[in-house]
Amino acid sequence: MSFNVSADAYGRFMGRFSEPLAVEFAEWSGVADGQQALDVGCGPGALTARLVELLGADQVRAVDPSPSFVAAARARFPGLDIAEASAESLPLPDAAVDLAMAQLVVHFMTDPVAGLREMARVTRPGGTVAACVWDLGPGARAPISLLWRAVHDLDPGFVGEAELPGGGRGELAELAAAAGLADIRDGELTVTSAFADFDDWWEPYTLGVGPAGAYVAGLDQQGRDQLRARCRELLPAGPFEISATAWCVRGRA
Ligand SMILES: C[S@@+](CC[C@H](N)C(=O)[O-])C[C@H]1O[C@@H](n2cnc3c(N)ncnc32)[C@H](O)[C@@H]1O
Repeated sequence: MSFNVSADAYGRFMGRFSEPLAVEFAEWSGVADGQQALDVGCGPGALTARLVELLGADQVRAVDPSPSFVAAARARFPGLDIAEASAESLPLPDAAVDLAMAQLVVHFMTDPVAGLREMARVTRPGGTVAACVWDLGPGARAPISLLWRAVHDLDPGFVGEAELPGGGRGELAELAAAAGLADIRDGELTVTSAFADFDDWWEPYTLGVGPAGAYVAGLDQQGRDQLRARCRELLPAGPFEISATAWCVRGRA
């Protein structure tokens, strides 16, 4: 998958949004002193870092199926229990944690309902399962939405990430209900990242991260030049900010 990339590439591409998102998501999920937490699909550790800050390193575990991200997260958090595993098959016993969280992961799961159900299994009864996914639906408000808009302008038939599960309004709550969670609440979280200029924005798309990076990597030079030119038309030349909004859901195991 397009997540077997370096932590540095991920950080420049998505970490600049997922690090601030982790602060908002942890607060919205009700992370509280004394809890044991699991970060599912931790990547290089944006949410893991926030959980360690709030709960302490001995209260936090993490998993991710990407070998390069697991290696990066282990280097960043020595001593933390970080396993190479997917949400659909977590290497934890039943009721092992108070809180299982998945930030920007549900839409990449092979089986999102099975993944959320498995997160509920490893959470103690009454504990919290929480997830968030960028708004990828109509009027998308994800960090990568402008790139997909430019792709669509040049190649109207290309769908991008618009149909991934959990990315539309209300979809995360439907998935959470199908996974058997109780007392489901949903909402949205918005973060902002600053870019010095157009190249600061474009360069991370050339690093092959995620579906957008994979799309750019699959273009020939002419296609890449055309896409870059279309994006340039859509963005200001000087310093600018991009805001991005994620849907979030939480429920009781
Ligand atoms: C957009 S990144 C999010 C990483 C991190 N949570 C963050 O907020 O920066 C998506 C992550 O989901 C992981 N992933 C993909 N499929 C998964 C699955 N079935 N179960 C758990 N994680 C998965 C990828 O390896 C990648 O690290």
